Amino acid sequence: MVVFKVARLETTPFDGQKPGTSGLRKKVKVFIQPNYLQNFVQSTFNALTPEKVRGATLVVSGDGRYFSKDAIQIIIKMAAANGVRRIWVGQNGLLSTPAVSAVIRERVGIDGSRASGGFILTASHNPGGPHEDFGIKYNMENGGPSPEGITDKIYENTKTIKEYLIAEDLPDVDISTTGVTSFGGPEGQFDVEVFDSASDYVKLMKSIFDFESIRKLLSSLNFTFCFDALHGVAGAYAKRIFVEELGAQASSLLNCTPKEDFGGGHPDPNLTYAKELVARMGLGKSNPQDEPPEFGAAADGDADRNMILGKRFFVTPSDSVAIIAANAVEAIPYFSAGLKGVARSMPTSAALDVVAKHLNLKFFEVPTGWKFFGNLMDAGLCSVCGEESFGTGSDHIREKDGIWAVLAWLSILAHKNKENLHGEKLVTVEDIVRQHWATYGRHYYTRYDYENVDAGAAKELMVYLVKLQSSLLEVDEIVKGTRSDVSKVVHADEFEYKDPVDGSISKHQGIRYLFEDGSRLVFRLSGTGSEGATIRLYIEQYEKDPSKIDRDSQDALAPLVEVALRLSKMKEFTGRTTPTVIT
Ligand code: G6P
Ligand code: ZN
Repeated sequence: MVVFKVARLETTPFDGQKPGTSGLRKKVKVFIQPNYLQNFVQSTFNALTPEKVRGATLVVSGDGRYFSKDAIQIIIKMAAANGVRRIWVGQNGLLSTPAVSAVIRERVGIDGSRASGGFILTASHNPGGPHEDFGIKYNMENGGPSPEGITDKIYENTKTIKEYLIAEDLPDVDISTTGVTSFGGPEGQFDVEVFDSASDYVKLMKSIFDFESIRKLLSSLNFTFCFDALHGVAGAYAKRIFVEELGAQASSLLNCTPKEDFGGGHPDPNLTYAKELVARMGLGKSNPQDEPPEFGAAADGDADRNMILGKRFFVTPSDSVAIIAANAVEAIPYFSAGLKGVARSMPTSAALDVVAKHLNLKFFEVPTGWKFFGNLMDAGLCSVCGEESFGTGSDHIREKDGIWAVLAWLSILAHKNKENLHGEKLVTVEDIVRQHWATYGRHYYTRYDYENVDAGAAKELMVYLVKLQSSLLEVDEIVKGTRSDVSKVVHADEFEYKDPVDGSISKHQGIRYLFEDGSRLVFRLSGTGSEGATIRLYIEQYEKDPSKIDRDSQDALAPLVEVALRLSKMKEFTGRTTPTVIT
């Protein structure tokens, strides 16, 4: 057994190591500066209570992006020096964000050990490669991201750090083959266990969904399927689950080999970046050569986001979570006893609210950020939740889960088509969505993003919008002066949330204008942008009349968009006449 020594190395603080709820995300060239990663990792260890470090079992893995392999070796050496007992690594350093959550919550090691937390190495849907982004975040023993108390402490530590501990002479561990490597240190044995990245996650999915009924759907002659991993870590799970377990054709998988630079692409599952899938599904500019598949889906770099498509049909994330909630009890065995409650983030459309009301479910509207759902789930208040930003999930883990969302949709399709698998006409994704609208009404919804706006200008715009809220009369004059066909503003505020579990209050979570007919305008500054500021404008209109639910969404929303731009003086403040991205 190799014996290592502990070195205490001097260091000085770096500016700007404040982790958001999604961790610390920076360009690779920032992360590879000597001591940059080391400072953050040591600051994290120092922010945890000693028993969560000394003698603990921790997970270290991620989406496999550039610099991950080096980072894993550094973290292993630092963990050894800090008295950690065991490090678990997914084979080749790969674990999706939802899989890390599952592994922390469920996995039992070869020697019966359980993990109490883990480092996830990812910058999610941001591009990867030597000139792109890297990221790191720490998840706690419930499998969810560190709460603000911890991330604040980490940040404070990064500002005063003077030294870090590292086992410099520990040889690099081979993370390409599964097995345990043991070392001896001043405090006793230290093990690194490399394990199959998919097994634990596959086991969990099999305990939630009826794989047999999905297998029947996927193997039926009239159902066709396509999944795009955008060269992210979802590829490692897609092959195992969709092909090996569920019998999909290997040709159904697009870009399912994880790559350090995501093949040069932007691993974000939306209509702009998932170009190949969008074209194959018949939603591109030109018609595809082959008939599009019945169902298509994509996930982001670390496989926590998802996009759901039907043949020539886009399902908005807000509709997706509402439809999953409406069908969960019947279609997904995990929920057969009923849903404990449902939740959405504030800017997400109210489609879920209507389902909750119909089904008499507990309902929560939380600020943007998955951590708010985690609290509700830990308290047994929420089973299914989702966000407009392509995140959907449930209380099976404490992260959003891209593959889970795909399996949820496949379960609903399998359930609706139980009798139709022998050549009869299928109930399609589009049918399911249209039936949903017919029952619950439709929430027309769109999001305008103004990226990389001057930060000062963005702030001024937000201040102006808050000030405007003091006089609804004035607001209504502007509204009526812009479009007479838009209804009256009945309420305007800044969204504030009191967590029903821990009582904490989150203020300034987005500016809302609520209209008499249920329409809504929301303005928010993105918390995840890396340059300048990103203003997000969320536009929503509710339509109950079944004769009016089939319009083109951009057409239906055009009057509200006009009002939003006038109300916010978007052009005057930012100089922008068009948004950078529309989703
Ligand atoms: C991350 C979080 C999500 C959140 C999103 C918002 O993806 O995991 O929970 O919805 O960021 O991003 P934004 O840029 O709108 O702050
Ligand atoms: Zn992600």
